[in-house]
Amino acid sequence: MDAATRELLVPVHGVLMTKPLAETWEDVKRFQARPDDVVIATYPKAGTTWASEILDMIYCEGDKEKCRRDTIYNRVPYLEFQIQGMPSGVDQLNATPSPRLVKTHLPIQMMPDSFWEKNAKVIYVARNAKDLAVSYYFFHLTVSPLPQPESWDVFLYNYMKGNVCYGSWHDHAKGWWEKRHDHQILYLFYEDMKEDPEREIRKMLKFLEKDMSDDIVKKIVHLTSFDVMKNNDMVNYKTLPSEVMDQTITPFMRKGIAGDWKNHFTVAQNEKFDEDYERKMEGSGLHFRTEI
Ligand code: A3P
Repeated sequence: MDAATRELLVPVHGVLMTKPLAETWEDVKRFQARPDDVVIATYPKAGTTWASEILDMIYCEGDKEKCRRDTIYNRVPYLEFQIQGMPSGVDQLNATPSPRLVKTHLPIQMMPDSFWEKNAKVIYVARNAKDLAVSYYFFHLTVSPLPQPESWDVFLYNYMKGNVCYGSWHDHAKGWWEKRHDHQILYLFYEDMKEDPEREIRKMLKFLEKDMSDDIVKKIVHLTSFDVMKNNDMVNYKTLPSEVMDQTITPFMRKGIAGDWKNHFTVAQNEKFDEDYERKMEGSGLHFRTEI
């Protein structure tokens, strides 16, 4: 682990987290879920904001103005959010009326028990490990609570080892996958959402037992497309102070594609990554597409 990582991240039950979160971890663990909560769970950069906007659109029946009532991080509070001087995710959620949409990046074994006790529904979005690595690298360059990567090569090495915030991508994706039948979990893939967003939105609707007209579904597909979201300040994080997220380095809504990893991985990095990946994912039954 490099010095910057050691300084900002500490393990909580073996998974690296930011220090402010580690210090208040018990508050998250004790969080009280409600039966009608719907959770959007992801490893960071898997399409959390996209899925969150889709779900809020579903809840608002495609009403554009209603969805622009506030920023995405207030409409879908981030359970384990903890930055000094700002309200915690737990406080924000406790003050949110039902039905709540809840965002989390927690690995499944770290979810507060009450979500399972209350039988809350979870939509998990997974994204292929290579595109995610690239997206996470650029994200690290722009946000201050995360360690600054020394280089892309060092970042990729740390990521493969699970020495990044939220730990191993492999364990995260596999952990949620293995338990998907034990709870009410809908496991979706970013690449499928790119390929056919309407189909994936319909899966969400079925899982949530909601009916919706074709017109509204099509409207939601449009309003949650990359180009529309990129220009929507209620989802593109431009409302955050630049000290927290400096989007002059790269925008939050960066590329939004499958296959960008090819512009960043060297041949040697790719070979090493594949070899490590196959070992870690063997027998998992999980198959990702790295391009569509
Ligand atoms: P890139 O950095 O590859 O562009 P998260 O919300 O989990 O932090 O994920 C952010 C990633 O999702 C970014 O990926 C972002 O561009 C992408 N994204 C956000 N909205 C999207 C959309 N409507 N369609 C496709 N990708 C989207």
